[in-house]
Amino acid sequence: MSKRKIIIEPDPILREKSSPLEKVDNELRKLMDDMLETMYSAPGIGLAAVQVGILKRLIVIDISKEDEKKNPIFFVNPEIIYQSDKTSTYEEGCLSLPGFYAEVERPTECHINYLDYNGKRKKLEADGLLATCIQHEVDHLNGVLFIDHISKLKRDMIIKKLRKNKKELKKIIL
Ligand code: NI
Repeated sequence: MSKRKIIIEPDPILREKSSPLEKVDNELRKLMDDMLETMYSAPGIGLAAVQVGILKRLIVIDISKEDEKKNPIFFVNPEIIYQSDKTSTYEEGCLSLPGFYAEVERPTECHINYLDYNGKRKKLEADGLLATCIQHEVDHLNGVLFIDHISKLKRDMIIKKLRKNKKELKKIIL
């Protein structure tokens, strides 16, 4: 396993739509392992392939708590087939928008079809934090960020700050 570089907003790749994967093979599993290591070391509870620069429909999520056994779930070609009318609000963050959080309202429950780590067809009925996390990550595959769900005023403010942070980071590297 090796850690990959996480792409930080603003970056045009984060706005692109990811394409479906044709098969789950060892090469893809290597990417999944790398994504898991990258996510754990960040640390974060969800990561989409586009966040490490790969425009493929693949996400990894692990919402287990620090004192619990790790429980990573890989979703290849995830498809949300049901979203409840009932909604919940969580304070969301994102590894591509470090340091920024906002309350986002999403359906409380969602059902999802996907292929797992071994390429097996699976269905999951999720609610609460897991459902929120799945919807946040599936958004990434469609070029959508959590800040797209908040007011334009707040979104513009966050992007402005991220842009400034990036410039400063570059100065230090140079
Ligand atoms: Ni994210």
